[in-house]
Amino acid sequence: MDILTIPAGESNKTRESWARLTDQMLAKRYGRDSAVIALGGGVVGDLAGFVAATFMRGIPVVQIPSTLVAMVDASIGGKTAVDTPAGKNLVGAFHPPNAVLVDPQLLATLPLREMRAGFAEIVKHGVIADDVYLREVASGASELLSAGGSTSDRMLSLIVRSIEIKANIVSRDEREEGLRKTLNFGHTIGHAVELVSGYSLLHGEAVAIGMALESRLAEQIGVARTGTAATIAKALQSAGLPTDLPPGFEPDAVIEAVRSDKKGVSGKTRFALPLRVGAMAGAETGWTVPVSDDQLREVLA
Ligand SMILES: NC(=O)c1ccc[n+]([C@@H]2O[C@H](COP(=O)([O-])OP(=O)(O)OC[C@H]3O[C@@H](n4cnc5c(N)ncnc54)[C@H](O)[C@@H]3O)[C@@H](O)[C@H]2O)c1
Ligand SMILES: [Zn+2]
Repeated sequence: MDILTIPAGESNKTRESWARLTDQMLAKRYGRDSAVIALGGGVVGDLAGFVAATFMRGIPVVQIPSTLVAMVDASIGGKTAVDTPAGKNLVGAFHPPNAVLVDPQLLATLPLREMRAGFAEIVKHGVIADDVYLREVASGASELLSAGGSTSDRMLSLIVRSIEIKANIVSRDEREEGLRKTLNFGHTIGHAVELVSGYSLLHGEAVAIGMALESRLAEQIGVARTGTAATIAKALQSAGLPTDLPPGFEPDAVIEAVRSDKKGVSGKTRFALPLRVGAMAGAETGWTVPVSDDQLREVLA
């Protein structure tokens, strides 16, 4: 076994890193009988997964996620990718892992801000599929984020439940033709906010803002039950996550970023929106709901 490393950070999830890693493997004469073990956060998981997807037309990969984001989200579901100057995750492949090994002891050294970011995706899973789970997450977050909490059995059981929810959705719609789109809740506005922040916000922080605003939007256009947005905002705040646009953010810049990200037809963008906590809207319309720019502007203003 050889250990190949990359410098930390999203800026290294590139085709250049992919080329360097695959060249190193070729120089060591790895063949089709080799395998990749991806030990790290989502950056390593996505990059090493893409190396495995493409090396010799595809070799097995085992994911060993070391961040909360990677444990509950990135390592599950088989999406692998690298970024290009044109945007994030634009070159990639579906390549399901042969195994995922999760050990919360690895979280002992993870900075608090990265832990909080992981809670954004955990809250998302509760909103999509399980209201009882969301209540449990909201009531336990402050303890789990305090010293010793991240490696506790309670943390492990949350991670397991989140994996179950994501795996259940992905196994029914691996290629994101319908149901898997529900996992994009919070990500339409979230990606735009992430972009407008110049990536100074972590993905989870931007998605937290996205979920808070998209759930308000869902109530405003009569899709979500009254009170849904308040419950979601409270859960996010219990994990120390933001629920509003940071000061100085121009709503129009966010709308522009949403548009260029989603290429909406005729001034409408399709959103994955909640019906209530524990159920998503749009079962009859491919699990997304069209929203006009005016409706979007109202919630961002
Ligand atoms: N494939 C998917 O379905 C999917 C889903 C969600 C996110 N992602 C991708 O995942 C990436 C984000 O992943 P992330 O949030 O894990 O970020 P990351 O991989 O950049 O890790 C965050 C930071 O934590 C450090 N780190 C990792 N493990 C640590 C540990 N145990 N102790 C201390 N520090 C540690 C890393 O070096 C890095 O500095 C993005 O590229 C995103 O696109 C993919
Ligand atoms: Zn996400």
